[in-house]
Amino acid sequence: MTEQVKVLTSRWGDNRAHEIDRYGELDGYASLDAAFGKAPEDLVQLVKDAGLRGRGGAGFPTGMKWGFLAKGTGKPTYLVVNADESEPGTFKDMELLERDPHALVEGVIVSSYAIGCRNAFIYLRGECGWPGRRLQGAIDAAYDKGLLGRDIKGSGFDLDVVLHRGAGAYICGEETALLSSLEGQRGQPKLRPPFPAVEGLYRAPTTVNNVETVATVPWIIRKGVDWFRSMGSEKSPGPKLFSVSGDVVNPGNFEFPLGVPAREVIMGAAGGMRDGKELKAWTPGGSSTPMLTADHLDTPMDFEGIQGAGSLLGTAAVMVFSEDVCMVRACLNFTEFYAHESCGKCTPCREGTDWMRKILGRLESGQGQPDDMDTLKDICDSIFGRSFCALGDGATSPIVSALKFFRDEFDEHVSGGGCPFPGARVTVGAH
Ligand SMILES: Cc1cc2nc3c(=O)[nH]c(=O)nc-3n(C[C@H](O)[C@H](O)[C@H](O)COP(=O)(O)O)c2cc1C
Repeated sequence: MTEQVKVLTSRWGDNRAHEIDRYGELDGYASLDAAFGKAPEDLVQLVKDAGLRGRGGAGFPTGMKWGFLAKGTGKPTYLVVNADESEPGTFKDMELLERDPHALVEGVIVSSYAIGCRNAFIYLRGECGWPGRRLQGAIDAAYDKGLLGRDIKGSGFDLDVVLHRGAGAYICGEETALLSSLEGQRGQPKLRPPFPAVEGLYRAPTTVNNVETVATVPWIIRKGVDWFRSMGSEKSPGPKLFSVSGDVVNPGNFEFPLGVPAREVIMGAAGGMRDGKELKAWTPGGSSTPMLTADHLDTPMDFEGIQGAGSLLGTAAVMVFSEDVCMVRACLNFTEFYAHESCGKCTPCREGTDWMRKILGRLESGQGQPDDMDTLKDICDSIFGRSFCALGDGATSPIVSALKFFRDEFDEHVSGGGCPFPGARVTVGAH
């Protein structure tokens, strides 16, 4: 049995943790003195040694990413925090910002010091009003206390932080689209190379890191590599937030060491299936990660374990579907999202997501044809690995995995002339 841990969630039970004085009483900003006492490159090495991997989806090693930042360019270096959190099923960053916004501000200060950044940006999903107000309040309070601005705590280190609100587009979570949007341009992904570490914001060296990633850094500085590595596995160390939603008794965010078996997250922490229903499918890391089934419940939830089961850890957003869920309809819901959010820059994603939406719509409405499933697979093949950014790949995940595990259900929609589940959706303009 894996115990839940209290690292990033350690202050979530305190309803005054968002106030700077209370945050200080709870050991807040304690990592600053520890950080300023070290050389910046030693901090980068510390994060490398800890093995921290990005919590925004791809799991890229954070210290290594910082190490790629171009030096001696004569341009500033930027830290941009990705607080867009738009992957369906993911709601960890917003709870962190609501309950413990100073944890991110503290992370921004020490991470900026480590990489030599003097102007940091936080790109927040525009609809997230309450987390945004909490975060701006924390930034303002940090300025008032001299923790942001000039000569922070007499260290000689200066840092300004700007909170920028996006306009609510999934694509603006993709790091190059995010940077374009932050510059005031259309939020569309850019070709790499050059990578942001060489030419990012305003064509200057930039690292884009997720909220949870940045909020984890102060803990590593304060408590050290061995402590961090005492949780999780060799390749996926540390604590991780898991967002659990769907047909469970107790949905919410839970913090476990990486590598916790999915069963303990879903059946344990999240209270198991609602109304005693059977589990049919679950996503390990949001809608862009292939669905798994009840047969995969003993899979360790770390980057390697979930990949071994044929999916991806992504953002560790576990959406749980019971036996009552129609998988065609679930795919239709997801695909409507992707078709709407496709930025339109590349043809496979722009056209493919729309065709998939139409085919799934006609299957669900009772107008499906026997070769629709093969057509869906063909379209997925034309999108996966062929679209400009990973949005397209993600759009194929629900469909490919649902066809792999629940093909019978798709066939039934054709042979039975419509959806066998109650409340079938009729999609206007489905074909
Ligand atoms: C379509 C799309 C949406 C994304 N949305 C987010 C997001 O909302 N938040 C996030 O941190 N990363 C998101 N990412 C991943 C980012 O591109 C990037 O990998 C991440 O911010 C890096 O941070 P990390 O190294 O701390 O994980 C998204 C990627 C894609 C392709």
